[in-house]
Amino acid sequence: MKNKNTIAVLPGDGIGPEVMKEALKVLDFVNNNYQLKIEPKLSEVGGQAIDLYGTALPDKTLELCQKSKAILFGSVGGTKWDELPSEKRPERASLLFLRKHFKLFANLRPCKVLNDLSPLKEERIQKGVDLLCVRELTGGLYFGEKGKKFNKFGEKGAFDTLNYFEKEVKRIANLAFTLARKRKKKVTSIDKANVLTSMVLWRETVESVSKKFKDVSLEHLYVDNMSMQLMLDPSPYDVLLCPNTFGDILSDQCAGLSGSLGLLPSASLGENDFGLYEPAGGTAPDLVGKNKANPLAQIHSLSLLLRYSLKKEEAASLIERAIDRVLQKGIRTRDLFTSKTQTLVGTKEMGDEVVKEMERLC
Ligand code: IPM
Ligand code: MN
Repeated sequence: MKNKNTIAVLPGDGIGPEVMKEALKVLDFVNNNYQLKIEPKLSEVGGQAIDLYGTALPDKTLELCQKSKAILFGSVGGTKWDELPSEKRPERASLLFLRKHFKLFANLRPCKVLNDLSPLKEERIQKGVDLLCVRELTGGLYFGEKGKKFNKFGEKGAFDTLNYFEKEVKRIANLAFTLARKRKKKVTSIDKANVLTSMVLWRETVESVSKKFKDVSLEHLYVDNMSMQLMLDPSPYDVLLCPNTFGDILSDQCAGLSGSLGLLPSASLGENDFGLYEPAGGTAPDLVGKNKANPLAQIHSLSLLLRYSLKKEEAASLIERAIDRVLQKGIRTRDLFTSKTQTLVGTKEMGDEVVKEMERLC
């Protein structure tokens, strides 16, 4: 039985706890302002949980997630746990496990580029860049058969396999087209069908799904070409429909385009409203404990949670408008600080600025 108002909050490792603290400040504000009564319940995950309980996803954390309406996730992993066998490492044993366990097959990573934040020249982005990466999340290379092997000379090898079933491609393609309908009505499907058999299936299946969406245009691009186009001329693109691994890589590239990985939120969704929300940026070990990490991707992930899992559109949009305003005012954490005309702030101060901006907007 799901508890109506509970959300599981799993800060995890690295900068996770610091940026999560700022997201919780923002949650506090919307809770009070809109009388939402959302109850954030914290639990351990990742390396932190390995140290405390010997496993990256303790039973009590999984139970909390099961009882909750959604999960707000920080980040997991770190060199300390890199020596563990791959299935025990924080990434696979907690994050990938949760994605698979809750059948969260769709990962949405929206990326809007503000001109002065992008490393690209003004003329390359002046037409505006507003992308939505729709990444397949529970199949492909991440979850195919894998293992170690030896060849006939006794040389050590290892393999991962890339599989897709029609059903997996259909459901993610359906979602991408449905989302495109509310946007610029354009889907670019990413594959490597010139080399990989699984990607031929991907392309054919996307093509067949597109027949149901006559009002949405579809083009297919090889992943290497897409990567180049994002650098040269990103404006014409709208929804990027990606297999798991390519989506992982291209979404980081989108983050780069927008100025920093610290800006990229994500929503992982399944067939119902339950979802896992996390910044795409990782643990950023070099920034830990220095009040330097950018909390905006974590805060933005909270707004996606409010929108998709809790249907609190007003609160979600208030948070997003506040983030935009703060950035437009030139308030920047170190990752985005490029000129002396801007105001350099730390993690905590950035959280405070977002809350102040929300107060002004209410
Ligand atoms: C992401 C991350 C994860 C992934 C890691 C931490 C397992 O890079 O969410 O993009 O590869 O999916
Ligand atoms: Mn990634």
